[in-house]
Amino acid sequence: MDINTLYVQTQGSFRNEAIIFLHAFPMTSDMWKEQMSFFSKTHYTLAPDLPGFGKGVLPFHAITFEHYVDAVISFLREAGIKRSIWCGLSMGGYLAMRMYERAPELCSGLILANTKAAADDNAAKEKRWSTIKMLHSHREEFIAKQWHAMVSKSSLEKVKLKKCFQEIVSKSDEEGISAGLVSLATRMDNTETLAHITVPTLILAGEHDKIIPLSEMQFLQENIQGSRLEIIKGTGHLSNMENPDDFNKVIADFLASLHTDHVNSSLLN
Ligand code: MLT
Repeated sequence: MDINTLYVQTQGSFRNEAIIFLHAFPMTSDMWKEQMSFFSKTHYTLAPDLPGFGKGVLPFHAITFEHYVDAVISFLREAGIKRSIWCGLSMGGYLAMRMYERAPELCSGLILANTKAAADDNAAKEKRWSTIKMLHSHREEFIAKQWHAMVSKSSLEKVKLKKCFQEIVSKSDEEGISAGLVSLATRMDNTETLAHITVPTLILAGEHDKIIPLSEMQFLQENIQGSRLEIIKGTGHLSNMENPDDFNKVIADFLASLHTDHVNSSLLN
């Protein structure tokens, strides 16, 4: 059941190491277009639309954040992807951390972008409830508000980026987005998971992120053993779409270091 609620885009050869890209709210797998095109030359890239987003199917029963977790873990197991790198931005990062808590044996490296470990407090929950109320009657206003919150001041001027953003957000209906808001508001706190993470981890922050402050990203870095924090210049919350060149470069360096570290440790053994 859970696998069928996902729609998964893939690019690259399945013989290569896999990277799973996990989308933000209220986006879809299409937000990873630049990353899939870049990394598919060296990796097998996969990006799901989570249930209720884009082509991801919302089940008939009520869902929680754990359904997203179940769906992606079941998909990886079913597809025979034994170990892979998980790259999640914001909601996608909450998902990657929660997946790690549930199935660490499937993960070989983590890339956590514009995300945090803490769950919603009451003020954040209240904001989600009012968004649900306004969604049906004020859809355009919702999209406009998201755009302003998610990108940096300089990105606001980028016409092509704005069009792309609007097209992606328009791919999910109100039911899927509302289910997403309830799932986000009731998700588990991932703080305790940080100490359990033993895979190489890269943390990416947006220089001008208005949604996730740098202090949250620093908290991740301080609490995930051996992790590295990089700041993506000129970006807000949607760092991968606002500055794909720098975003991809930092990830490419991280991926290369995984192999160098592996070779070095084999030489030492
Ligand atoms: C996201 O980009 O996924 C959202 O900002 C996450 C959230 O609302 O907590």
